[in-house]
Amino acid sequence: MLVTRLSQWLALSTFALLTAANDDSKPWEAYINSPSSRHIRPRSIKAISGDAVIHTSPDGVYTLHMKQGSQITLDFSYVGGLLSMTTSTSESVAENDPVPHFSLAFAESPAFIRAISDDTKAVPTQDYDKALNVTVAAGSQAYAMPRERFRGGFQYVTIHAFRSVSISDVVCELGYTPSQQNPRDWEGHFWTDDDELLVRMWYAGVFTAQTNIAPPHTSRWLPQVVDGWAYNATLGVEGPMLLDGAKRDRAVWSGDLGIAGTTAFLGLGSVGLESVYYALETMFYFQNETDGMLPYSGPTTGSWRKGSKSDVYHAWVLVACFNYAIYTGNETWIDIHWDNITRGVEYVMQRLDNDVGLAEQVYDNDWARLGGGGYNSALNALNYHALASLASLAADTATERNGREQQANDWSAAAARLKTAFNTVLWDESAKLYRDNETTAGARLFPQDGNSLALLYSLTTSREQSTAVSEALTRNWNNIGPVTPELPDTISTFISSVEVLAHYAADQPGTALKLMRRTWGYMLESPLMTGTTLVEGMSANGSLAYRSMRSYNYDSTYTSLSHSWSTGPTQALSFKGVGLEIVGWKKWIFRPQPGDLKSLETAYMSPMGEFEASVQFSDKGILGWLLDATLKTPKGTSGTMDLPFRCKTVTVNGWPVSWQKPVTGGGVKRILGVGCDAPQT
Ligand SMILES: *[C@@H]1O[C@H](CO)[C@@H](O)[C@H](O)[C@H]1NC(C)=O
Ligand SMILES: *[C@@H]1O[C@H](CO)[C@@H](O)[C@H](O)[C@H]1NC(C)=O
Ligand SMILES: *[C@@H]1O[C@H](CO)[C@@H](O)[C@H](O)[C@H]1NC(C)=O
Ligand SMILES: *[C@@H]1O[C@H](CO)[C@@H](O)[C@H](O)[C@H]1NC(C)=O
Ligand SMILES: *[C@@H]1O[C@H](CO)[C@@H](O)[C@H](O)[C@H]1NC(C)=O
Ligand SMILES: *[C@@H]1O[C@H](CO)[C@@H](O)[C@H](O)[C@H]1NC(C)=O
Ligand SMILES: *[C@@H]1O[C@H](CO)[C@@H](O)[C@H](O)[C@H]1NC(C)=O
Repeated sequence: MLVTRLSQWLALSTFALLTAANDDSKPWEAYINSPSSRHIRPRSIKAISGDAVIHTSPDGVYTLHMKQGSQITLDFSYVGGLLSMTTSTSESVAENDPVPHFSLAFAESPAFIRAISDDTKAVPTQDYDKALNVTVAAGSQAYAMPRERFRGGFQYVTIHAFRSVSISDVVCELGYTPSQQNPRDWEGHFWTDDDELLVRMWYAGVFTAQTNIAPPHTSRWLPQVVDGWAYNATLGVEGPMLLDGAKRDRAVWSGDLGIAGTTAFLGLGSVGLESVYYALETMFYFQNETDGMLPYSGPTTGSWRKGSKSDVYHAWVLVACFNYAIYTGNETWIDIHWDNITRGVEYVMQRLDNDVGLAEQVYDNDWARLGGGGYNSALNALNYHALASLASLAADTATERNGREQQANDWSAAAARLKTAFNTVLWDESAKLYRDNETTAGARLFPQDGNSLALLYSLTTSREQSTAVSEALTRNWNNIGPVTPELPDTISTFISSVEVLAHYAADQPGTALKLMRRTWGYMLESPLMTGTTLVEGMSANGSLAYRSMRSYNYDSTYTSLSHSWSTGPTQALSFKGVGLEIVGWKKWIFRPQPGDLKSLETAYMSPMGEFEASVQFSDKGILGWLLDATLKTPKGTSGTMDLPFRCKTVTVNGWPVSWQKPVTGGGVKRILGVGCDAPQT
């Protein structure tokens, strides 16, 4: 054994990290942030103070010999779960003696490494989580954290010794994605040779979603424990479930699923879909039998307890249902849940049944933005997409007896009427943006959410209008990202995820890439963050004081550093950048928008089969640009090639075709475009 103090230890810290061997043909594997085992040892010592000595065994296992008052911080890289360890002490402590042997404190951000944990309760004047005090028996003992002290997301563990104790074999048993033996088994990938930051973003997105997939009975216990924490509540329907965040709230929030569910599917495949399945089962389970309304969140939130409802989140659940249906291609699932979906759509239809054709926002709970109400643009853009997409699903799965053809007609007619009204009532020609609602107050606010959703879901009526909205949205940007007009001093990484997708939808890949590089580049580089997971949100200056004026009360230690609603770039790069996107029932589109990238590829696994695309662009001078793409799509699917630039000739497997050609799936297709216009940057 090697005995060292920190200074020596730093000089000697050459022990090997356990990293999986990288295959040269799969360079992206180096960017998978997950470990290959479910039992994780700390990777390094972050800090040490007081009278403490660390022994490091040849295979890198630490033994901490700690005297009273000493403190050691272990760096686990980003994990979540329960710790176990072996303790050894000669001091026995009487039962009523309050002074423990040591305490354990947990932190996500390097900024909050200290003897007490970061917070799972937003009260800035008090540190409610404190530390977990541990008293052990004398001699050598195995210690494991009690199940209810589950800690869903952390990077650092600070051990403070109140008495002399030796601690060895500290291991974190991972909680996330309980169905995976090997957390590095990701079924999807993304790669570009041209910009490493984008690769890191894609992988940070998937890892974030992975850390948000919870084992049952690890939701926040309410009323919240004061002085400490308890994460032993039942999440909903029993199964691994995609939640909002790793540390907290550890609940299903239906709006979040709109972004998070797609990330989980793209990166993790079956394990991701499974987690969405249980989240949606929970939403259906609690659907209101009388009016068809779907819940705002899972049953373990304060909002649930208060009976809060949300029209916007209701629509997001419907969007998540559509996504789940088209990503799985599972008709049985659709049939089982068609009544739930129908009741949900009927709730929307009823709200639209007025002179205007837009829904008035009655329950204005949302992602924490201010304002809302009236004919709110974000709500109506979401309603439009829910109606139009579920109408297409109804039409594509209609049989003579299931009545879905009529539903398809009714829902798409309502969608068409909504779209017309949306542009008549909410468009502001001088701002080139949609207003928040029809009132004077609503006309003073041009929201990031309503405008991004309007672009993403095709509420605009011309290319000029889309370009103008895309351009106008950039007026919100500061040097790290969009300061959202609907919540002052805030960069919403959730709504900015929608905005990234929106710029692609407006055929502005250059703007989308600029936004990703600026905002997600900041998140990955900031010393406040983890570097491997994506934060819930930020203040306008990039601090962790997210949502300070809206109930987070300037308590930066409360902000979640792994929150899967912030993972828009994963979806944007695969679906829009590479451009192979599942858009309907067994239907995909191939529409590459490389921006300034020359070469990019992605793959993802659906129960229908594997989707894979790689695209390469090269400038051939006076001969124009050459597009060389390979597509692999499952049998039984079909798609459209919809190149956003013109080519003199396009061939599929050597056969000349028009550049907007329907293509059937099954097998590999090589697409060559010769003499193309330069891709838009
Ligand atoms: C843990 O023990 C320390 C030392 O006795 C004490 O100051 C602290 O309040 C205890 N923390 C909790 C949460 O009980
Ligand atoms: C969860 O933990 C809290 C706090 O320790 C406790 O009051 C509660 O009974 C526990 N619930 C279950 C289901 O174990
Ligand atoms: C279900 O909907 C009905 C009709 O809108 C309403 O009166 C009732 O309170 C709702 N139930 C719950 C549990 O919210
Ligand atoms: C389709 O969905 C049903 C209902 O959720 C499920 O039982 C079945 O296993 C699914 N089929 C596939 C191939 O995943
Ligand atoms: C929705 O689904 C749940 C669970 O699958 C079911 O119990 C409930 O009756 C359904 N509600 C409606 C309105 O169809
Ligand atoms: C319209 O929007 C503004 C800004 O969000 C909000 O303050 C106002 O209350 C809304 N009007 C109505 C009628 O809800
Ligand atoms: C950043 O913004 C937060 C929230 O408004 C504020 O508390 C903090 O002082 C600001 N930091 C700097 C360095 O300006």
